[in-house]
This record gives sequence, structure tokens and C-alpha cells, in this order.
Amino acid sequence: MQFSRTGLVLALATIVAAAPYEKRWIHWGSWGDDGGRPWWSGPPDTSYLEIGKRILNSKTAATCNLAQASLPQPPIALPTPAEGLALSHVAIGRGTQNYTCDLQNATAVPKPVGAVATLFNVSCMAADIPELMEKLPSIALNLPVPSADNALSPAYQDMSGHHYFVDDTTPFFNMDTALHQYGTGAFQKANASAAPGSAPKGQYGSGDGSVAWLKLDAKDTATGQTFQEVYRTNTAGGSPPDMCTGMQESFEVQYSALYWIYEKTTGS
Ligand SMILES: *[C@@H]1O[C@H](CO)[C@@H](O)[C@H](O)[C@H]1NC(C)=O
Ligand SMILES: *[C@@H]1O[C@H](CO)[C@@H](O)[C@H](O)[C@H]1NC(C)=O
Ligand SMILES: *[C@@H]1O[C@H](CO)[C@@H](O)[C@H](O)[C@H]1NC(C)=O
Ligand SMILES: *[C@@H]1O[C@H](CO)[C@@H](O)[C@H](O)[C@H]1NC(C)=O
Repeated sequence: MQFSRTGLVLALATIVAAAPYEKRWIHWGSWGDDGGRPWWSGPPDTSYLEIGKRILNSKTAATCNLAQASLPQPPIALPTPAEGLALSHVAIGRGTQNYTCDLQNATAVPKPVGAVATLFNVSCMAADIPELMEKLPSIALNLPVPSADNALSPAYQDMSGHHYFVDDTTPFFNMDTALHQYGTGAFQKANASAAPGSAPKGQYGSGDGSVAWLKLDAKDTATGQTFQEVYRTNTAGGSPPDMCTGMQESFEVQYSALYWIYEKTTGS
């Protein structure tokens, strides 16, 4: 089955705009070139990964060469990666940004206490179908977190690892799993830039906006960790309300984003 690139991107835009969830799924399965008959019969929670793989398989020119991938930038650009680093992996993260509220304080604002996300490998998509990859977080936000914790799940093979915080200001990437040893690393925020105005308001189109795009630097370069810099881009959701009014003491906001992971090139 052949898909045109332009046709695909238009179809995805329709999916993002559609509601509610069930309709979105029917929509999802109804495009293609086979007269409106669903062409993907797998579970909806992995379809956005499967779509990319199917297109890559059908593309004769696909190289999967990360040197061809280019880091997307927000309207106010983040600093570029340091010299001597090369892109080693691109993952889509799907999970939650967590916040706490001081309920004793009438003017309190939500305090970020980290994020928890499962990471899935989209490195080949970054190299060969960037226009699809950049739309994935908006799509993933409206779908459940793929269940990658059991080896029978279709998403298991694609899981890059886990993203979480070891304390309130230390994001950690653990991408050594039973299947793949991509690396690990502890980071600190180096720079932030607001998401573009076109970023989703939140899950199913309502919420408090998309979290900033970030540049993270290795927290302790002396530990010899593999990963040196990480960019969070194409964010979808994750922002808390401005004020704590009406919120619980701790709460989560659904989000998705792309993570671009840079390593030292050999010899540098
Ligand atoms: C973030 O990056 C921009 C653009 O490179 C730079 O002008 C700004 O000073 C940086 N901010 C911080 C806090 O490093
Ligand atoms: C953050 O969210 C994750 C995932 O839902 C949850 O397991 C964890 O307990 C939360 N952490 C806090 C501090 O609320
Ligand atoms: C209440 O929250 C506001 C906003 O974050 C903060 O400036 C203020 O110091 C807090 N007051 C107390 C008593 O913690
Ligand atoms: C997964 O990531 C690695 C780089 O860490 C890459 O070599 C591999 O081709 C990727 N697989 C897919 C399906 O993107």
C-alpha cells in the first residue's frame, strides 16, 4: 500500500482536530488509498508508532541516518548543541508533568515536581519523515500511554526507556532496558523557550497550554555518563493553571514531547 507524504500529513491534521476519542480512532483507521476501509487494525495506543514504521518500510529512500535529522527550534531559538556532540537518539515521551499546591496559601501557584514519561524510539522517523514526527506529540497526547511494560505489548520493542526526576530539579533519562542499552544520564535545565502559539492547549483541546521547549545539560560531566545534552521539543500539554485555586495538593497534567539526545562523538 502506498501513501503520499502530503496526503498523510493532511490526514493527521484532521485526526488532531477531531473529537471525541472514539471518533478520532475511526477517523484514524479510515484514511489511506483503499476506499475508506480501515487499514490498521492494531490497538490505538500504539498506532502512532506503527504508522511511522509502515511509512518507513514503504520508503525506498529511507536511510535511518541520524546525521540527516535536524533539531526543530521554537520561535525564540534555543542555543545549538555544543561542539563535539552528535545526535544519538530521538524519542517521543508520553506521560505526565507533576505539580504540587500549598493549600494553606490563598495566592499559591503550582510548583513543578518533575515528570514521568515512557520514551519510544522515533530516531528513524526523525531522519526520514520529520514532518510526521513533529506532529506525533499532539497526536500522542490524546491517546493513552502505550503499555510497554510487558513483553507481549506491541509497543515493547519500540520502548527506548523511562524519563523521570531523581529530585525536583534533576531530570533523568534511563534508556537501558532489557531489550536496548542506549544509555543513561542525569541533567539540569540550561535554557527554556516558550512553545509556539500553535501548540495544543492540552489533552482533547482544553487545558493550560504546552510546556516550554528546553535544553538540558549533563548535571555532572565527571560521571562519564553517555548522554551529554537533551532537547525537549514539540511539546504538547503539560502546563498547570496559573493559580492553585481549586487544585489538589498534588496533581498531574498529561503531556507528550520529543526528546533529542546528544552524545560525545568518538574521539572528542
Ligand atoms: C538562552 O538562550 C538564548 C539564545 O541562545 C540566550 O540569549 C539566553 O541568554 C539563554 N538563557 C539562559 C538562561 O542561558
Ligand atoms: C507523578 O506522576 C506519576 C505518574 O502518574 C506518579 O506515579 C507519581 O506518583 C507522581 N508523583 C508525584 C510527586 O505526584
Ligand atoms: C503564597 O504564594 C505566593 C505565590 O507563590 C508566594 O509569593 C508567597 O510567599 C506564599 N506565602 C506563603 C506564606 O508561603
Ligand atoms: C532506535 O534508535 C537507535 C539509536 O539509538 C537507532 O539506531 C535505531 O535505528 C532506532 N530505531 C527506530 C525504529 O527508530
